[in-house]
Amino acid sequence: MQVPCSAPPHHRRLLSVLALLGIAALSVALISCGTVTRTVMAPPGIPGAKYVGSDSCSDCHDQITKQFPTADHARLMARGTNAMEMGCESCHGPGSLHVDSGGGRGTIINPKRSPEVCFQCHLDKRGEFNLPHSHPVLAGRISCSDCHDPHKGSVHSQGGLGVLDQNTLCLTCHTEQRGPFVFEHEALREGCTTCHQPHGSVNDKLLVQRNQMLCLKCHFQQQQTGGQLLIGGIDHTPFVAQGTCWSAGCHEAVHGSQVNSALRY
Ligand code: HEC
Ligand code: HEC
Ligand code: HEC
Ligand code: HEC
Ligand code: HEC
Ligand code: HEC
Ligand code: HEC
Repeated sequence: MQVPCSAPPHHRRLLSVLALLGIAALSVALISCGTVTRTVMAPPGIPGAKYVGSDSCSDCHDQITKQFPTADHARLMARGTNAMEMGCESCHGPGSLHVDSGGGRGTIINPKRSPEVCFQCHLDKRGEFNLPHSHPVLAGRISCSDCHDPHKGSVHSQGGLGVLDQNTLCLTCHTEQRGPFVFEHEALREGCTTCHQPHGSVNDKLLVQRNQMLCLKCHFQQQQTGGQLLIGGIDHTPFVAQGTCWSAGCHEAVHGSQVNSALRY
């Protein structure tokens, strides 16, 4: 196992789940961490099918199998006959019926159609997609793999978490926010997730904060006089009573404006 006990807590929890997938060697290693939360999970099941190991997938899915060692999830592969359910089958379920039938329909799980397989290890994600505002993954309108590549490189699509790359991902679907704008809002250079939760949020529009705190984390200014809220040298006290910075009729064009440097339409 290549992920050490000093892995961050959420990884440790995931690893404990892996241990419970029945891999003796891993379990021993994890119990010795002494910090795991034990939640019993079942690997994805396919009635009547057995685990055959990732090697048997390469005959027919050569391309994916060749790239897979570069994938984040490939680090979860455990070797040896007791550990065959790891690798491809940790997401696709046991493959014997699929292999024996030469790829027959309905013999293997395709997580594109349902996020359930991902939730088995990423327990907290189900909750995030159940928040009042979320990307419609549970409704089946988009899937985890629209944003995360399971087969190669970083599991974050567009290769890594580079800010511009992440924006590119969001902008493939949200073309209105792309610009170019005559007056751009430099905040977007920090990435869409400066202001938006990618999965789900209690706040409308997936915002990370529901009020002017969203903006003040960057536009905070040393206040000179008590009872004033100075932003950009202008006293905003009367304005903030009228609503949020973007809903009070002041800076509605929060992603960038074609007409006004103060981000108005
Ligand atoms: C003997 C050849 C063969 C082997 C071995 C094989 N597959 Fe397939 N697989 C296929 C064929 C054929 C298809 C259908 C391809 C298509 O529709 O484009 C398929 C489709 C799939 C799909 C998509 C299914 C869907 O419903 O969308 C997945 C996922 C998959 N295979 C995973 C695996 C995994 C994991 C393994 C190893 C355990 C594996 N395959 C081994 C031939 C094979
Ligand atoms: C982390 C989970 C995960 C692992 C591990 C994984 N896959 Fe997939 N696989 C997916 C997802 C998600 C999709 C749907 C991708 C999409 O949206 O098109 C998929 C789709 C597929 C398909 C359908 C064709 C395609 O390209 O969409 C095949 C075939 C496949 N996987 C084979 C494999 C093989 C072989 C391995 C091991 C080398 C593997 N997968 C490992 C999650 C995984
Ligand atoms: C068998 C358990 C398992 C399954 C199934 C699984 N994952 Fe993971 N996933 C993990 C573990 C463990 C890690 C941490 C790996 C690491 O950081 O080395 C991880 C890492 C990730 C990360 C990166 C997390 C980070 O901190 O950067 C993403 C994104 C992710 N998985 C998405 C998915 C998606 C989408 C699916 C379904 C297609 C899926 N996973 C299925 C166990 C799993
Ligand atoms: C709309 C795009 C999008 C969809 C759909 C999506 N994700 Fe993510 N996910 C992201 C982005 C962007 C990040 C990085 C967040 C950051 O760096 O602030 C992320 C981070 C993660 C992480 C690591 C950090 C964390 O929050 O724990 C995991 C694990 C993860 N996603 C799993 C999933 C699973 C499972 C699904 C499907 C049920 C899914 N994601 C669907 C965009 C998406
Ligand atoms: C695969 C396409 C896709 C990708 C990629 C994507 N989204 Fe979305 N997004 C959607 C869909 C579909 C909706 C739901 C729209 C609706 O309900 O009308 C949505 C909704 C939203 C909303 C709420 C819109 C509203 O009017 O309530 C925000 C904000 C958002 N996405 C931001 C992001 C961010 C930030 C990213 C990148 C991390 C991202 N999206 C990536 C498809 C996508
Ligand atoms: C400075 C904070 C901030 C950043 C950065 C940001 N947004 Fe937004 N976004 C907002 C606010 C505030 C709203 C709500 C606007 C409203 O309700 O009128 C919003 C709304 C949205 C909506 C819903 C449609 C709309 O315009 O009301 C989408 C889609 C969206 N943002 C996508 C993105 C994408 C994609 C990125 C990255 C390219 C991004 N946002 C970056 C603050 C931000
Ligand atoms: C990630 C940091 C960041 C966040 C969050 C942020 N901004 Fe900005 N904003 C900037 C930067 C940087 C500039 C350009 C430099 C400047 O004028 O301060 C800017 C410029 C502006 C301007 C233009 C000022 C002018 O007259 O030239 C307005 C208006 C503005 N932001 C409004 C908002 C609103 C409204 C929000 C909340 C929805 C917000 N900003 C959130 C970083 C941010």
